[in-house]
Amino acid sequence: MQLLDGKVVSAAYKEQIKKEVEERKAAGKKTPHLAAIIIGDNPASRAYVGNKVKTCGELGFNSTLVEYGTDISEDELLTKINELNNVEAVDGILVQLPLPKHIDENKVIATIKPEKDVDGFHPSNLGKMMIGQDTFIPATPYGIMLMLEHYGIETSGKNCVVIGRSNIVGTPMSVLLSRNSEPGNCTVTLAHSRTKNLAEVCAQADIIIAAIGKAKFVTADMVKDGAVIVDVGINRIEDATRKSGTRLVGDVDFENVKEKSSFITPVPGGVGLMTICSLMKNTLKAADNK
Ligand code: GUN
Repeated sequence: MQLLDGKVVSAAYKEQIKKEVEERKAAGKKTPHLAAIIIGDNPASRAYVGNKVKTCGELGFNSTLVEYGTDISEDELLTKINELNNVEAVDGILVQLPLPKHIDENKVIATIKPEKDVDGFHPSNLGKMMIGQDTFIPATPYGIMLMLEHYGIETSGKNCVVIGRSNIVGTPMSVLLSRNSEPGNCTVTLAHSRTKNLAEVCAQADIIIAAIGKAKFVTADMVKDGAVIVDVGINRIEDATRKSGTRLVGDVDFENVKEKSSFITPVPGGVGLMTICSLMKNTLKAADNK
């Protein structure tokens, strides 16, 4: 078994992005600028956005963090997005999801100017991705593609099972892996909560992408010997041996599945780090597109 190490791969990409930003600045071009909007005090969302803003600083990007309480109205949020749409200096805008129930996520995403939608969630960008046009690829699936490419994982002709059909991860992942490109050319099965005999479906997979948000859901009996395992989950579970009383685990039962896999991503230290990295790549692309 070999680890698909997000620390190593993201460090290499971040180094490359940092260098490009330095070159841009030396050539008198504008500094990439990401604006992040966070609503409420969900600790996980706060941590993710904090990391995105911190990474901007490390790579020489400018960033703006806009914070609201859960009492913000949908109108106020849409007004803020429109304002950022019109700020020339801002290249990328992201609104951290999930949103409070009274705010319509679809409306929010559709309000972000597609040219600044560095999450790649706008219907026009997702549509372009579907038909293989150049656009912003959603950060998590994009990060997974970079990871597979970095480790030279053979995907062509392989059976890939993606578990979970979210707009953010599972659905775009299934599209990217079935494309006629490298990585890609997989025969993809998109499994979800209504899939029958999921264990048997997974046991046929050369590559499993687990994105269902259930701790240790993928167990060793569901995995074929030598399979490549990519774990998108970040779940907090109780652990009395830790000072905090909790720890993070993925959607895969790592300790048991690792024995059967050829490659596997750890949690933490796997896909999550790649997600931030691809968000930065998208923001640099947005600045470049100007
Ligand atoms: N919530 C979970 N993942 C993401 C992401 O990639 N982008 C945004 N904006 N919110 C998220």
